[in-house]
Amino acid sequence: MSRIAYVSGAYVPHRRAAVHIEDRGYQFADGVYEVIAVVGGHLVDEEPHLRRLHRSLGELRIPLPIGDAALRIVIREVVRRNGVDTGIVYLQVTRGAAPREHAFPKAAKPALIVTSRATRPPDPRLGDDGIAVITIPDIRWKRCDIKSIALVSNVLGKQQAREAGAYEAWQVDRDGWITEGTSTNAWIVTEDATVVTRAADNAILNGVTRRAVFDIIAREGYRLVERPFTVVEAKAAREAFLTSTTADLLPVVRIDGVPVADGKPGPLSRKLRAAYLAHAAAAA
Ligand code: PDD
Repeated sequence: MSRIAYVSGAYVPHRRAAVHIEDRGYQFADGVYEVIAVVGGHLVDEEPHLRRLHRSLGELRIPLPIGDAALRIVIREVVRRNGVDTGIVYLQVTRGAAPREHAFPKAAKPALIVTSRATRPPDPRLGDDGIAVITIPDIRWKRCDIKSIALVSNVLGKQQAREAGAYEAWQVDRDGWITEGTSTNAWIVTEDATVVTRAADNAILNGVTRRAVFDIIAREGYRLVERPFTVVEAKAAREAFLTSTTADLLPVVRIDGVPVADGKPGPLSRKLRAAYLAHAAAAA
């Protein structure tokens, strides 16, 4: 089946899908994006993803070029035309094409693209065996709550993780607190079985998976505290894990080469992972 993309009003063959060279996304990273999981042909947590898209657009003062009802139809149509059963939808909105000038152009029309492809499920061994993370300085801007397409720091961090044989890099702010991964949120479980993750301030993206895991924690009666934690605390934690739309929930078993507890996925991480996978599957 040949791939189809939606580009500002038209469904076009993926290999020919293009925006203009003066699109402000290309020149200034002046845009935002969302990644939504598709499980069994259905969208996982579509509502919170669209809410966050609106929030990011609002912060950058970019209008969504189509209405919400139309956007929902486009997303479904792109999934359908690409025959995606298990995969992702990628949405990107930029301020549009205009002669290069930093200030907002008067007459640019925002560009919306929607693509979808089969990518999931992630390798089940990652969930069974757990993954390694490294820690790196957080060199990003101060509005990481906006899901901006300006991801070069995240790209460099993820590449550093790959070259170190790790799955992810946990970024550390100037005061020694872990903010989040380059494309995932970071969590630990303390000795008294409290689940800890940083509060959603401007230093992290408020993950949709993070919120879904909050709901599971509340439903199952586990303890949750939203507070920052240090690298030292994470290395000494009873368990650690990360979450995102594409990673689901993965146990972290090594931090900078140091095993977390006995170096095996912890019981709470495994339970929360199973509950999250059930939540994603229930979208179907
Ligand atoms: N990344 N933090 C960052 C910096 C992210 O880029 C992401 C998502 C998350 C987790 O958010 P969510 O649970 O809503 O997926 C946290 C997406 C998947 C990506 O860039 O591919």
